[in-house]
Amino acid sequence: MPGVALVGSGSADLPATLTNDDLSQLVDTSDDWIASRTGIRQRHLAGADDSLASLAAAAGKNALAMAGLAPEEVQLIVLATSTPDDLFGSACQVQTLLGASRAVAFDLTAACSGFVFALVTAAQYIYTGVFQNVLVIGADVLSRWTDWDDRRTCVLFGDGAGAVVMQRQDDSQGTEEPGNGLLGFELCSDGTLNNCLNLSYQVASKPLVGDLTVQQGQFVPITMNGREVYKFAVSRVPEVIEKALFRANLTTADVDWLLLHQANQRILDAVADRLKIPRDRVLSNMIHHGNTSAASIPLALDEAVRSGQVQPGDVIATAGFGAGLTWGAAIVRWG
Ligand code: COA
Repeated sequence: MPGVALVGSGSADLPATLTNDDLSQLVDTSDDWIASRTGIRQRHLAGADDSLASLAAAAGKNALAMAGLAPEEVQLIVLATSTPDDLFGSACQVQTLLGASRAVAFDLTAACSGFVFALVTAAQYIYTGVFQNVLVIGADVLSRWTDWDDRRTCVLFGDGAGAVVMQRQDDSQGTEEPGNGLLGFELCSDGTLNNCLNLSYQVASKPLVGDLTVQQGQFVPITMNGREVYKFAVSRVPEVIEKALFRANLTTADVDWLLLHQANQRILDAVADRLKIPRDRVLSNMIHHGNTSAASIPLALDEAVRSGQVQPGDVIATAGFGAGLTWGAAIVRWG
């Protein structure tokens, strides 16, 4: 069976920032409250000329450049997002913006777990030998769907896009066993907890003809039960990472970096403590970005790779968690 390697990362540059002090002009909050409860000090916002597709394409372009690949060499683009420009999907627009004319492209929705789910999905196409080069993008513009009057949620989220290039490694490349960049994974869902975190569609009945009505409405901004989501994350995320490590035949001692969805610093600290992973092996950039949903993991990875923190060969335990509820972990080797 072929192996898979992570050979490039990239992210989009969003210059506009919204600080905690800025937020305190919108709602009754303070820099001190937000920073102490979440670890977030600012978040980036998409500009007036940005679209979900343009941010995703910018991240993808940077990842392809790091991998040394031309857009025409990509066969599959998986776009993890919950905030597409078009409900029919934004991945094809990303394909066009990149000039990846030979790629098939589709969206994948799993909220803040989206990137991990997309990474694992992409790997299956590579393992079966179908595709050689796959671009996995996590991008979200949650600012479109944030209730800017709700201090319990508006302080948490930001916009962003990040990407990785996954490449097939064939047996014929000199080694007996092809190297594998995806060492183990575990994915989970629990719809019974769906009402903890929603960006839901509110139906309004519209008479059509005779007795017939159609149910038309609109999506309403994010609602969240913060305490329940917090409890869910600190209990289920360590568990799912341990299962993924077990599948990889590794232990936490083999993990160079813990890279969690960047939701809340207190969640990161609690998960690291439960797994007995020292804090200096935890990647965190939420102080600058807040929670960017599907973008948070590839964005943090890209920053860590470009700063030289993550080195080729490093083992990264990554986990996403969020609405659905969904959660999942992947143990990956960089480079
Ligand atoms: N500024 C000031 N006060 C705030 C506030 C804000 N931004 N948000 C909430 N408060 C207040 C509440 O109104 C409440 O006041 P009250 O006791 O007078 O009613 C008090 O702070 C405590 O609220 P609570 O919701 O219990 O706070 P918390 O300690 O649970 O922290 C979160 C709130 C959201 C930071 C925390 O629950 C959390 O991080 N949950 C996980 C959320 C998450 O990660 N979601 C995304 C997953 S993908």
